[in-house]
Amino acid sequence: MTEPDPPQLYTKPSADELITLLEKHSQNVIHNFESGVSNDPHNFYQWLTTLCASPLAWIEDEDQRDEIWQKAAQRIAERSGRTANPKMLRKIEIDTLPTISLVEPPLTGDFLGLKTWGSSFVLSQIFVSTPDLLKDTVLELGSGTGLCGIATSLLGHPTIATDLPEIVGNLETNFVENKIENFKTRTLDWTNPGSFLEDETTPNKYTTVVLADPVYSENHPPWIRDMLEQFLDRKSDSRAVICVPLRRKFDEVREQLWKLLDEAGFIRVRGGEVDDKDEFGHMVYTWGEWKWRDIV
Ligand SMILES: C[S@@+](CC[C@H](N)C(=O)[O-])C[C@H]1O[C@@H](n2cnc3c(N)ncnc32)[C@H](O)[C@@H]1O
Repeated sequence: MTEPDPPQLYTKPSADELITLLEKHSQNVIHNFESGVSNDPHNFYQWLTTLCASPLAWIEDEDQRDEIWQKAAQRIAERSGRTANPKMLRKIEIDTLPTISLVEPPLTGDFLGLKTWGSSFVLSQIFVSTPDLLKDTVLELGSGTGLCGIATSLLGHPTIATDLPEIVGNLETNFVENKIENFKTRTLDWTNPGSFLEDETTPNKYTTVVLADPVYSENHPPWIRDMLEQFLDRKSDSRAVICVPLRRKFDEVREQLWKLLDEAGFIRVRGGEVDDKDEFGHMVYTWGEWKWRDIV
């Protein structure tokens, strides 16, 4: 259904009418990877900028004028790309799992772990439909906002979710807010896992290691290989489950990861491709279960 055009300001719409419309088109809560912008009225962005620039002289109450400007500015920020976005909440619905709520703080620097990526959504759905991919305690590398780790915990596996120190605070918040109990969050830097290895409250070997979207620079493949060699227990039932988007830009980096895993003695025993999307649109993801080749 097409949304009606927003009211022209020369018609002097009431403060209540403006506030209701601005609240209706809030993008502070996103469902899965659906963008609500497609429901915007025609020329809504331009109308928001006009609203911000208007003195709103017909509205007598100063507090109401401030509220309208503030809400209009927020709606503009939400539509200006993820980097300009204020803090937002993503609600994830996956089959049999309870709704998972993920806080995504404003993005700062290149902290990609402060937003949720499509791979973790795809992989979480795969875990729900194929639960035998998981065994025993799960170590997740590069957890970001924690979707995959929250899913593996909800599926009954104690989970150690890890990331860089600047990401772990928000990661912990998301596990706590979703009332997850069987988890730990820890710093585990792929370039220097020393502090994790010395931590006596977490194991150093795992039957299941999970990674969603871990390679987007040429440094990542050797680091990931090193982490799997370090943390994946040398047993026939050990497995690493990896999901990556088929982004053109990272074709070479992805191929390098498969090559290094092969050379290190891993073999992909299960996997597939999944058509889904992220907030930039349609995306194809490839996932695989990797085992130690010589002891499969
Ligand atoms: C593209 S994000 C994916 C996040 C999450 N798995 C998801 O799919 O939503 C990549 C993640 O890898 C983490 N990462 C990058 N370099 C890392 C490193 N050296 N050590 C540990 N984590 C790292 C980032 O902080 C980020 O959380």
